[in-house]
Amino acid sequence: MTTKQFPENFLWGGATAANQLEGAYQEDGKGLSLPDILPGGKERFAIVNQDDFDFALHEDKYFYPNHIGIDHYHHFKEDIALFAEMGFKCYRFSIAWSRIFPNGDDQQPNEAGLKFYDALIDECLKYHIEPVITISHYELPLHLITEYGGWKNKKLIDFYEKYAQTVLTRYHDKVKYWMTFNEINSAVHFPIMSQGLSDANGAKDKKNIFQAWHNQFVASAKAVKIGHELDSHLQIGCMILYATTYSYDANPVNQVAAMKTNQENNFFCADVQVRGHYPAYTSSLLAKYNLQPSDFDYTQAELDLIAQYPVDYIGFSYYMSAVEEVTQTDHDTVNGNLMGGVRNPFLQTSDWGWQIDPAGLRIALNQLYNRYQKPLFIVENGLGAHDELDANNYVADDYRIDYLRKHIQAIGQALDDGVDVMGYTPWGCIDLVSASTGEMSKRYGFIYVDADDHGQGTFNRYKKKSFNWYKQVIASNGSNLD
Ligand code: BG6
Repeated sequence: MTTKQFPENFLWGGATAANQLEGAYQEDGKGLSLPDILPGGKERFAIVNQDDFDFALHEDKYFYPNHIGIDHYHHFKEDIALFAEMGFKCYRFSIAWSRIFPNGDDQQPNEAGLKFYDALIDECLKYHIEPVITISHYELPLHLITEYGGWKNKKLIDFYEKYAQTVLTRYHDKVKYWMTFNEINSAVHFPIMSQGLSDANGAKDKKNIFQAWHNQFVASAKAVKIGHELDSHLQIGCMILYATTYSYDANPVNQVAAMKTNQENNFFCADVQVRGHYPAYTSSLLAKYNLQPSDFDYTQAELDLIAQYPVDYIGFSYYMSAVEEVTQTDHDTVNGNLMGGVRNPFLQTSDWGWQIDPAGLRIALNQLYNRYQKPLFIVENGLGAHDELDANNYVADDYRIDYLRKHIQAIGQALDDGVDVMGYTPWGCIDLVSASTGEMSKRYGFIYVDADDHGQGTFNRYKKKSFNWYKQVIASNGSNLD
């Protein structure tokens, strides 16, 4: 049990991303986005990273689960009513860039796309649910990849600025909380999702990854500028993937390796977006890849912009921890959230091999708060599992309740440690398509959606056991986790 009360205005809720649940991939003028051409199945990243991957649809060969999602586009009222029944204080979702600018470089926004988000936001507000919007969540308009080569191209800064300007202007009086890029640092491992770079169009060259990051840092600062000029009360955050990283043992060599991995994997992007300047270790990080600052296309005006418009808070996802070990090679390995690694003998793993570590969340919160002293928002956390619907259309997902309970206890302990935590939005509060594998059968939700890995099913929604459990957690403001 936690010892400290959660703050009165703590933002309990849930999180999703447009491309993983909306479906309706070509409706009302939406253009194709990157996830629309990602095949379903565990091999999706391997396919995307083939040298001859052509970023095109091959419906004769593959099934594309993001085309259908959970058909939230036509069920959003029903879904938000269920979130309201759980007592959500907030709902984190993303806007599909290609609904607003179908090609990414269009002159005018698509009014039908904006109307959909008008309705979605109003539906949240009807239930006093605070919308929390991710401006770009792994859904780059495809045309910006095929025509411009993804985020390594500086032109994307202008396209993003126009898109951000459009949605911030339209919604700033209804939406206070925003995030500029989902898991911006995940490009360390899989630049395809956040930067539109695969091995086929430049991901093998680390220079492109760092250039893309720089371009995104500038774009993010521009979004903060636009938002604050519209309303100084808007809260605009970054969003990073955080995997608490331990040294395998007390060997100083492994400790140094863990320190370096933390810098590169966990901190680099947030250091720039939160502090407003590149960290002191930037040159040594670049040197690891035989790069130096002069290899990059950047201006003093861009660095000034980054310095002037840091983010207001730090959103982050936390699913698992990782272990660093460089002195031996014969360890067991495990899978993970866009990264695998050495097995930690003290931890259990999920059905998908991710190492479950609630104490690692407490450590993450302390590490981030001690480093930045800015409010923290846990905008993703949860257990991807095989759920089985019983004869009564019910899932007794005690394993998920156990996972979430332990992580909420860890948040309580971090509050005791003095960390400023704004809120908690478990991932996939309603079952949706997995980002890494395109599977529906990897389920995170409090709400079961009757759809399978091949897009078959009734798409009916059913409450799992965790639905009422989470409702009681929210009603008690985190004091009743039984
Ligand atoms: C995060 C992403 O990495 O993890 C989400 O922001 C994703 O988009 C979530 O869905 C869980 O990962 P997965 O691969 O299980 O869907």
